[in-house]
Amino acid sequence: MNYNKKSVEDVEVKGKRVLCRCDFNVPTKEGKITSDKRIVAALPTINYLREHGARVILCSHMGKPKNGFDPALSLRVVAQRLSELLGVEVKMSKDVAGEDSKRLAAELKDGDVMLLENTRFEKGETKNDPALSKALAELADLFVNDAFGSAHRAHSSTAGVADYLPAVCGYLIAKEVGIMGKALADPERPFVAILGGAKVSDKLNVINNLLEKVDTLIIGGGMAYTFLAAKGYSVGTSLLDNEKIDYCREMMQKAEKKGVKLLLPVDTVVAKSFPDPIDGPVEVRTVASDAIPADCMGLDIGEKTRELFAAAAKTAKTVVWNGPMGVFENPILAKGTIAVAQALADSEAVTIVGGGDSAAACEQLGFAERITHISTGGGASLEFLEGLELPGIACLQDK
Ligand code: 3PG
Repeated sequence: MNYNKKSVEDVEVKGKRVLCRCDFNVPTKEGKITSDKRIVAALPTINYLREHGARVILCSHMGKPKNGFDPALSLRVVAQRLSELLGVEVKMSKDVAGEDSKRLAAELKDGDVMLLENTRFEKGETKNDPALSKALAELADLFVNDAFGSAHRAHSSTAGVADYLPAVCGYLIAKEVGIMGKALADPERPFVAILGGAKVSDKLNVINNLLEKVDTLIIGGGMAYTFLAAKGYSVGTSLLDNEKIDYCREMMQKAEKKGVKLLLPVDTVVAKSFPDPIDGPVEVRTVASDAIPADCMGLDIGEKTRELFAAAAKTAKTVVWNGPMGVFENPILAKGTIAVAQALADSEAVTIVGGGDSAAACEQLGFAERITHISTGGGASLEFLEGLELPGIACLQDK
């Protein structure tokens, strides 16, 4: 895929109405935003557009509304936060591309900003319905996509609208694609990838694609037990993707053939049952990975493994990490994930954390400032690591 896309700097924006797709799908609790990271990440593009005299029409989805308007998923809270961050009033339309949006868009002056209501309140959004794409396009003269977190979705506001307007990327997409694209295409070596998370089946293509690129592939988290089973170890009652054992064997052979070091846990923190509640008390002990008792399940990597993985990260020049090493919601089972986050924070390498749980772990631990790049995309960064074409980027004009 060609990532060399035109950006806001390559087009005239003065006096133009610019439809700017952001990913404002932020977490909320009791009507309050609990992390404004994605809003803050969109500011460089919004500021650039305003400073260069554009009339900015922001849009985004939030959550997965099922039946049109849902007050709990209104972007009104985002408009408020944006107004605070920008220091100007961000007007909010009552609809997505209807009469109210048209009226507010027509009233915009150079440098003004408005926000459309949640794009998923329109049924056509997730179907990439041309009628909605056209209606969105009619609000503006130019489309800027800066929603990296939604770039893997072929929806009206992320891709379809680009059929009807000149389309370029914003700074966030340029940054995400620049850093992750370089790591995959031309990494400083040694290049180490650390993968975790529950299931092998969620990361099949990521493993396969990364084996073409890395010097060392580290597998931890729930998915490691299927690899251990493929080595012939018994894994007790640990999470096991039975149907993927052959796949893991194939990946181990591929790694050997390509001279890629594949590191699996050498020891494991086990318990008799999964903690319930997830952050509740749990009685654990550490065993060698080839000696998991029949009545126990692995729930985190052990101390020797933490040292092994951290040492690999330390000597690397590029590290990509996606997925927790254990049940990190529970402090007793979070040590593996903390150790990996710490190793990345301490490393001199270019360190990249895919979004989702591993990004949340780095932030919770206060390591975010010491990581080169924490992606704002969960699913999008995973698809990027798989080497897939992201529709929200493919639709933009090439340089
Ligand atoms: C995300 O949070 O990963 C993005 O905003 C995409 O959201 P979605 O999975 O609901 O499309």
